[in-house]
Amino acid sequence: MTQKLELYKCITCTNVVELVHEGIGTLVCCGADMNLLKENTPDVENAHYAYVEELDDITKKVVVKHVMTPEHYIEFIEVISNDKKFVKRKFLAPKDPCELTFKCDCKEGFFVRLFCNLDGVWVTK
Ligand SMILES: [Fe+2]
Repeated sequence: MTQKLELYKCITCTNVVELVHEGIGTLVCCGADMNLLKENTPDVENAHYAYVEELDDITKKVVVKHVMTPEHYIEFIEVISNDKKFVKRKFLAPKDPCELTFKCDCKEGFFVRLFCNLDGVWVTK
């Protein structure tokens, strides 16, 4: 059984997919089951930690102090409300500022998830 917003990767072709509707089947790519990507938890000194600044009542800015070189960079940042009804995703390229500004009252709370091309998935709650 899959869960909404899980990330899966094919180890053969490196496709990564995010689930928008859960089901009872398994995801298959290149003839094999895709791997559910593990969500790592960074401590505050880790380069994958997401800092959140409040700009006003509903506007917030996520900043990640990670290198953004062609060899090693954050491919995307997501803000996900705890009830998973709100998702904001920003795709990044090398040299882009590693940040995301979003508007959400997110009364139920939210977390930040990012995908590093070398180090995988990181979640800051
Ligand atoms: Fe990284």
